[in-house]
Amino acid sequence: MRADLALVGFGNVGRRFARLLEERRDWLSLDYDLDCRVVGIATRHHGSVFRDSGIDAVASAVSVEGGHPLTEGGAPLADGTLDVIHRLSSTDAPLKVLIETTTLDIEAGQPAIDYVRDALQAGCHAVTANKGPAAFAYEELSALAYDRDVSFLFEGVVMDGVPIFNLVRESLPAVEITGFRGVLNSTTNHILSALEDGEGFDAALQRMQEMGIAEADPSLDVDGWDAAAKTSALANVLMRARMTPQAVDREGIGPATARLAMAAKARGARVRLVASAQRTAQGVVTSVRPVELPETDLLAGLRGMANALVLQTDLLGEIAVSQLGGSLTQTAYALVSDLVTIRRRQRSGPHGAGPGRSL
Ligand SMILES: NC(=O)c1ccc[n+]([C@@H]2O[C@H](COP(=O)([O-])OP(=O)(O)OC[C@H]3O[C@@H](n4cnc5c(N)ncnc54)[C@H](OP(=O)(O)O)[C@@H]3O)[C@@H](O)[C@H]2O)c1
Repeated sequence: MRADLALVGFGNVGRRFARLLEERRDWLSLDYDLDCRVVGIATRHHGSVFRDSGIDAVASAVSVEGGHPLTEGGAPLADGTLDVIHRLSSTDAPLKVLIETTTLDIEAGQPAIDYVRDALQAGCHAVTANKGPAAFAYEELSALAYDRDVSFLFEGVVMDGVPIFNLVRESLPAVEITGFRGVLNSTTNHILSALEDGEGFDAALQRMQEMGIAEADPSLDVDGWDAAAKTSALANVLMRARMTPQAVDREGIGPATARLAMAAKARGARVRLVASAQRTAQGVVTSVRPVELPETDLLAGLRGMANALVLQTDLLGEIAVSQLGGSLTQTAYALVSDLVTIRRRQRSGPHGAGPGRSL
């Protein structure tokens, strides 16, 4: 079955996804009868292109990486992102999917939410690695997807391609998630590991930037915003919290954290930036903050790029999922795995996921 894809955002994740699609083309075809064709690409500064008969997305990636506009490969110009989404909705493919990988906007999750909404309203499925849509508008977008009998999926939002939403949806039927706690941001975990080894905060942060792990503007990481957006997405999807990242009780890390980290280590403990949520009589209470943990705590043992999420459930106790190292390939894989979910749902008939578990 043919799936036409529009890639909105064509940065590190979008381009790795384009290549991974080619690397897994035979696999997707043989195992899932899924033949993906990129018909449109939209960016902020590199132009937008669309062609009904398909675009060579790998050649487009090479072109963008060489500092050239998307049109250089000969693909016809499109009139921006909304035009690309509109034209996707009018192809004759049985499956039409928006692949949204634009930059996170921590104020309101825009314009990613509008792009996903437009695609769903036009009858296209929407897959995103951007935290914005699930962190700010999960309830609205999942209801819209259900109404239009399409899917809104976002496995890459937390712990890249390691299954979290897939795990709950596919493997924990009729289990209630009552809370969670986790280490979800790699940059801050790297810095905390360095601090407890005696390195200064600024030096550790600079090293993370030189290694390409921290952002050039790392405030989204160190101030806890990235972890807050993931917390909001998890709480909205797994616990129906209806919240935004601004509602997370948030404290980041800074130079003063060095003393705490070293003192904790001297006591045989560890400081980690812990994201957590608990269902209470007042609703879902969430926080992101540096917490001193005993050495025996699973989260205390995470160093460097390692992340982990502990789900608290009513029937199975605590379930821990750990990721020992993240990568672009893992994030791109999350988008591929969401495509396969869409294909599986399409095979199992309308509303395969049901309204309650449309995650
Ligand atoms: N990198 C990771 O490992 C990772 C992991 C998990 C999740 N994510 C999430 O995945 C998303 C993409 O990450 P990335 O590393 O690929 O970022 P990136 O390299 O900065 O790429 C962002 C892309 O989005 C485009 N863009 C930005 N605003 C746009 C708009 N309004 N309309 C159309 N295109 C727009 C940019 O176009 P121009 O280049 O032309 O400006 C660029 O192609 C982010 O939301 C990020 O938080 C990333």
